[in-house]
Amino acid sequence: MWKDWIRPFVRPLPQWSTIAVAPPQQDVTASLRWNHQSADVTTDHTVASLKPLSIATSLDAGDTPTLEYTDSATGKVLGVLYLAKATSIAIEGACITVYHVSGSEHRCLPWPRRSWNQWLQNRVMRKSNTSHHALMDPDSVQQLMIAYLCPRPVILVSVDARGHRNMFPMDLIGPLQRSALFSLALRNTNVSEPVMRDACKVALSSMPASMKGTVYKLAEHHKQALDDWTALPFPTRPSQAFGIPAVAAALRIRELSIVHAHDMGSHTFFLGRMASDEDLTEGAQLHHTAGFHQAYRRQRNAAFEEV
Ligand SMILES: Cc1cc2nc3c(=O)[nH]c(=O)nc-3n(C[C@H](O)[C@H](O)[C@H](O)COP(=O)(O)O)c2cc1C
Repeated sequence: MWKDWIRPFVRPLPQWSTIAVAPPQQDVTASLRWNHQSADVTTDHTVASLKPLSIATSLDAGDTPTLEYTDSATGKVLGVLYLAKATSIAIEGACITVYHVSGSEHRCLPWPRRSWNQWLQNRVMRKSNTSHHALMDPDSVQQLMIAYLCPRPVILVSVDARGHRNMFPMDLIGPLQRSALFSLALRNTNVSEPVMRDACKVALSSMPASMKGTVYKLAEHHKQALDDWTALPFPTRPSQAFGIPAVAAALRIRELSIVHAHDMGSHTFFLGRMASDEDLTEGAQLHHTAGFHQAYRRQRNAAFEEV
């Protein structure tokens, strides 16, 4: 139909695609490159803050490395982030390096559709007034989409302290494998942020893709704590060591002992060590990737299952 033909020219691709992926994702490989050296950081890099947009890793890759995302099946480069060293965090014998994102490019769409889609997406962002778009300028959101070329798993974080209980979704999460740390980048406006600094322990439920609707509904708890655990629309089970209510239907429940909280602009970058890890059932986990990544895969008949 002529409408299908004309759509890419007048409508931008969605920024994000919610997909079902069996964890750990292996479709995309992330490599850090610097001074003729390179290291696989697929399980050792994370987004540490949105403003400024920051990437953290266990490696010190010099002052201006690049972070390259490649299609694991074909070796094709999907996108690149250009990084500039910002700071390092020494913690319990490990050293985490934090980089600001100074530039980016992706190759998921052919030119000129790439530039045209970016222009259309940026125009929509400038017109919209969601809190996300108030926080980040369109160029930074484009860079963030490239960081999501590695599909990011979604978890529900449970916090249980005296007088405060909460459960909310996160995807700006670790691991930082070489240092055996796990990170959570949480908006410093989140209602549970001070409680997490104080209580230093949380439970993390890996969410089945089939629970997407429920997960998204819990986003309201970034602003408002839970009145009661029974207010949740699903059964919970106590986490193994801390006894914090977690999702009974989760694929996996881990407990994190928080060892450090770092102020990072818009976000608090929590670093912790796993206190327990229960693999409960196999299945596809809810993930996010960039819309142009899904479009790239669709072109090659290798689209992720969308939920
Ligand atoms: C699936 C999902 C994952 C999220 N991950 C994070 C996260 O990692 N860190 C964070 O600070 N907020 C996270 N959020 C919260 C949102 O960024 C936003 O702050 C929250 O939904 C409140 O939105 P509003 O301020 O537009 O009402 C997530 C929300 C959803 C639905």
